[in-house]
Amino acid sequence: MTHKPVIAIDGPAGAGKGTLARRLAEHFGLPHLDTGLLYRAVGLKAERTGRSPVEIAGCLDPSDLADPDLRTDVAGQAASKVAAIPEVRATLLDFQRKFAAQATGAVLDGRDVGTVICPHAPVKLFVTASAEARAERRYRELRAKGVDTIKPRVLAEMAERDRRDSERAAAPLKAAPDAYHLDTSDMDADAAFAAALAFMESKGFRFSGP
Ligand code: DC
Repeated sequence: MTHKPVIAIDGPAGAGKGTLARRLAEHFGLPHLDTGLLYRAVGLKAERTGRSPVEIAGCLDPSDLADPDLRTDVAGQAASKVAAIPEVRATLLDFQRKFAAQATGAVLDGRDVGTVICPHAPVKLFVTASAEARAERRYRELRAKGVDTIKPRVLAEMAERDRRDSERAAAPLKAAPDAYHLDTSDMDADAAFAAALAFMESKGFRFSGP
């Protein structure tokens, strides 16, 4: 069966969805949108300027998305807070839907891609891993960047973000009913990529790659 190639990937922080999304996008020659970056840009700018997150979401600039500080945990927490505001989500929705609707198809990753942004995507993956595995990965990443932190702190911050993202009323983090669940606790990036491809193959998805 041939489908318009839209791949929706959701899951909590540190589960490996970003890496998987990039790998799949590269494999199939599709554009990729990390939707979390939009929320990070709004959250960080709101914290820095004190302006309304809704107003910021309405006039995001490409330079806002290139800020190297977007990858920090401070930006992640700020993103998670503004992401609970329904008007912020509504303002960012249109851009994400248009990205998904482009003729080439697309890969999008986030928290509500399969449930809200692209509910009709032919491929939906829900990528999870145990809280310990996710915190361990994040801890190693931070240490490699020279950030001085301890594992219990990384775990606690991750748990706080998971709780906020899952319990909010507006588009909470959850799997679409037809999503394929991929637990990456005991997988590296290659194994997760192979498992996602095997799932797509088993379902007969045929995307014309490069
Ligand atoms: O994927 P990430 O860690 O970059 O996302 C940062 C925060 O943005 C996350 O904690 C919740 C929010 N987010 C969201 O609510 N919906 C999305 N589609 C993507 C991210």
